[in-house]
Amino acid sequence: MEKLIIKGNKELSGKISISGSKNATLPILAATILANQVTLKNIPLVKDIFTMVELLNFIGLKARIIKKKNIIKINNNEKNINTLAPYKLVKTMRAGVLVLGSLLTKYGKAKVSLPGGCAIGTRPVDLHLFALKKLGAKIKIKNGYIIADAKKGLKGCVIKFPSISVGATENALLAASNAKGITILKNCAIEPEIKDLILFLKKLGLIINLKGRSIIIKQRKIKNSKIVHNVIFDRIELGTYMIAGALQATNNIIINKINPKIVKSEIDILRKTGVKITIKKSSIVIRKNKKLKRINITTKPYPGFPTDLQAQLMVLLTQANGVSKIKEDIFENRFMHVSELKRMGADIEIKDKTAIIKGPTKLTGAEVMATDLRASVSLVLAGLVAENKTIINRIYHLDRGYEFLESKLKSCKAEIKRV
Ligand code: EPZ
Repeated sequence: MEKLIIKGNKELSGKISISGSKNATLPILAATILANQVTLKNIPLVKDIFTMVELLNFIGLKARIIKKKNIIKINNNEKNINTLAPYKLVKTMRAGVLVLGSLLTKYGKAKVSLPGGCAIGTRPVDLHLFALKKLGAKIKIKNGYIIADAKKGLKGCVIKFPSISVGATENALLAASNAKGITILKNCAIEPEIKDLILFLKKLGLIINLKGRSIIIKQRKIKNSKIVHNVIFDRIELGTYMIAGALQATNNIIINKINPKIVKSEIDILRKTGVKITIKKSSIVIRKNKKLKRINITTKPYPGFPTDLQAQLMVLLTQANGVSKIKEDIFENRFMHVSELKRMGADIEIKDKTAIIKGPTKLTGAEVMATDLRASVSLVLAGLVAENKTIINRIYHLDRGYEFLESKLKSCKAEIKRV
């Protein structure tokens, strides 16, 4: 099992380029089932993407990754399509459930493994199935599989989500893209990754309008011309490195290949703690501030503060003066990083869904264990701050979502190595 070893408390400075977004690439890969020839650019070379490409090839598309160019080329010649997403692929990469909407709307049937839960929660898909049923699909759950059927095709309608879900919005959008007539989705998630999916679907000839939290989709014949799409940058990776800079960059860390407008709420929150942030057209310059101020935040659907940055912000707040509070309002069990951070000297108590963080506390290196993707990266951030050596186990969690993490941090003078 690989580990990361970090020698902490080093002054960081340098340049970091942000990769393409994993959470935009995954639903767009599911959408390529609707197309014929697609070239996706700015792809992050991370494990979840490789698994999704494996799933597309299992289904019968010809998908191949050109690693040195961060490109994926996909050909769907419609021959021997297998509308099955097997457990072995979906269990390690829950977003595999997103092929359900595409397969159902294009081929009239799909058999997709229930994704099951993960470390941060039960992760149900009831909202996904609610939307597909409204569009006319017959859904059965059998032996851990979702068996969906729509022989006569799907029919557009109005669907109001009882609660906001990124994945359910994406699956409904994909299913609606070939449903007869007009579909109106209400109370949708409107993350930038969903807007990137909409941009991609429009290139397939679909007419889609986003108004507030409603998405209106008009069925159109899908163009089978060659589609090229540049995936949006990863705003969560950006937030992670902004916090690394806020913690340890005595000189500047310049983070480029981004669009600052998309991360307004993250920038506002970090500025409230006193972090020095300079915004340029397509980059952000960040520098440590000795006097960090305490804050209270609650994680919210976009444009609120993202749950995927909650663990990372918590590390920053261990260095802030005073008592901060973070309420995790999206997932039921997303505080696994707290016990590991406490072993490194953090002073954090959990009451119901709120973490109470007392700072500033001196962090010291320890041997710790990663549990989920974002919790793992919070341990890396704590390792960058802590005195002496931190060893992080189970870093396969990190490899699911962070491209070239060590080399990006090394380029900012961090002492980090994989063994
Ligand atoms: C997406 O997960 C992201 N994953 C997550 O990022 C992210 O944390 C999450 O959105 C919230 O922003 C991808 O995009 C691949 P949800 P998703 O459906 O779609 C409940 C990462 O680290 N819910 O918005 O699964 C659910 O349990 C990952 O990159 C239902 O109850 O999130 C949760 O409490 C982690 N029923 C809440 O809604 C459903 O049918 C929000 O989940 C679906 C969700």
